[in-house]
Amino acid sequence: MTQHDRLLIIDFGSQVTQLIARRLRELSVYCEIHPFQNVTDDFLADFNPKAVILSGGPSSVFAEGAPKPPASVFQLGIPVLGICYGQQVMMHLLGGKVERGHGTAEFGRAYVTPKDVKLSLLDGWFEEDREQVWMSHGDHVSEIAPGFEVYGTSPNAPFAITADVDRHFYAVQFHPEVHHTPNGKKLYENFVRLAGFTGDWTMGAYREDAIAKIREQVGDKKVICGLSGGVDSSVAAVLIHEAIGDQLTCVFVDHGLLRMNEADEVVSMFRDHYNIPLIHADETDLFLGELEGMSDPEQKRKTIGRLFIDVFQKYANEIEGAEFLAQGTLYPDVIESVSFSGGPSVTIKSHHNVGGLPEKMGLKLVEPLRELFKDEVRALGRELGLPDSFIGRHPFPGPGLAIRCPGEITRDKLDILRHADAVYIDQIRKHGLYDEIWQAFVAILPVRTVGVMGDGRTYDYACALRAVTSVDGMTADYYPFSHEFLGETATRIINEVQGINRVTYDITSKPPGTIEWE
Ligand code: XMP
Repeated sequence: MTQHDRLLIIDFGSQVTQLIARRLRELSVYCEIHPFQNVTDDFLADFNPKAVILSGGPSSVFAEGAPKPPASVFQLGIPVLGICYGQQVMMHLLGGKVERGHGTAEFGRAYVTPKDVKLSLLDGWFEEDREQVWMSHGDHVSEIAPGFEVYGTSPNAPFAITADVDRHFYAVQFHPEVHHTPNGKKLYENFVRLAGFTGDWTMGAYREDAIAKIREQVGDKKVICGLSGGVDSSVAAVLIHEAIGDQLTCVFVDHGLLRMNEADEVVSMFRDHYNIPLIHADETDLFLGELEGMSDPEQKRKTIGRLFIDVFQKYANEIEGAEFLAQGTLYPDVIESVSFSGGPSVTIKSHHNVGGLPEKMGLKLVEPLRELFKDEVRALGRELGLPDSFIGRHPFPGPGLAIRCPGEITRDKLDILRHADAVYIDQIRKHGLYDEIWQAFVAILPVRTVGVMGDGRTYDYACALRAVTSVDGMTADYYPFSHEFLGETATRIINEVQGINRVTYDITSKPPGTIEWE
């Protein structure tokens, strides 16, 4: 296995620490974020970083038990970059002074101007005579530590950029990792160049490493992977298959709540194209049978979740000798965040509706995507040959069309919904809008309305089109389609989809709405 150059980010609890990792990953630098409590001398020796970044954080160095890095960080002879709180704690530990923020707190946009002396960390900066940066601090450095010089100032931060060039210690008061410091990436680029990183953390390298690790972990044992057709589980499955071949069996639970042709596409991609042993568990009758007459959204979700686990377990039990369960857990799900008062708190989301199953079935986990962000998973998927049309697909919820069919679910309604959804998505693709939209779908409404078609009266379902933009699904805004697009789409749906005679467009943002209708 290749040993990559490693950068350690010591986290002091900033909301934006993850963005530091993002910027570094974009530079093909391997880094890990660890909460300050975990970073001991032994940890450092073991991790063997080529450089360290001290993150921002909400603390004050004056607070009792204020978070600190171990003093040995500054004795390793490697470059250290302190950001915001990271700068303050660095000055505090190295003999400078920090003052409480009374009256001089600075939040938001600020402009830094350079000093006369040049600093390699700032190559490419100050091509205009000032740089926009993002500040967010209460306390500030009032006296820099011995050996440091000032290289940039802002009206409220006389020590906005400081460095001890001989020791390769750099400290800035602002946040170069956020979008509002437009030239921030350049600063990270310079820092890793000065630290001697070669940018060896590419997707090709990740693929090779991941394959070696999976082989080492799994040996000659068998692995089960719950395939949902989503990007994460698909990439995990293809990667694991490349590592261990037919020791992997995928279980695809088809609950009958998928979109048009979706089940066939998943089966043909994995079974026929990749030759991965795949169990297609078509349990449509079971799911739709249990959901019959049910209209409460929570009850629907719980029923689907429970049946999913039962079915998955039933099929998994048929795979003799399986010892591992593969999951598409991503990096943001496993990052430890620092809680202010207590120890590090770990937030791990349950995945693929099989949460709790590994313990119940005595299975160990294989999680080959744990070190990746979502867009890196997509890049890995491309590296593994998954088609773009598959990798760029909009997210699709576990309970599927059930939550796009408010009220009772019937097979008729599902067929109508699937058809309308296919026409809508076809329209979006034809107009080249698919990639601009986070998620788009049709919901079939539990109401029938009167219409007139030809010479006859119709009494059919109404549907709502939904399309939102979003970064993470937590907040969302409706997509501003043109009236022409909406008109054309409504006409197509009403003409092509039997059972719908009225089309509406949902212009609710999230909050107060949610993306899905249930
Ligand atoms: P909401 O509707 O809560 O959706 O604004 C936010 C994102 O989460 C997806 N979603 C789900 N995904 N199981 C899932 O796997 C669910 O029960 C579920 N509910 C919502 C939704 O599609 C959107 O991307």
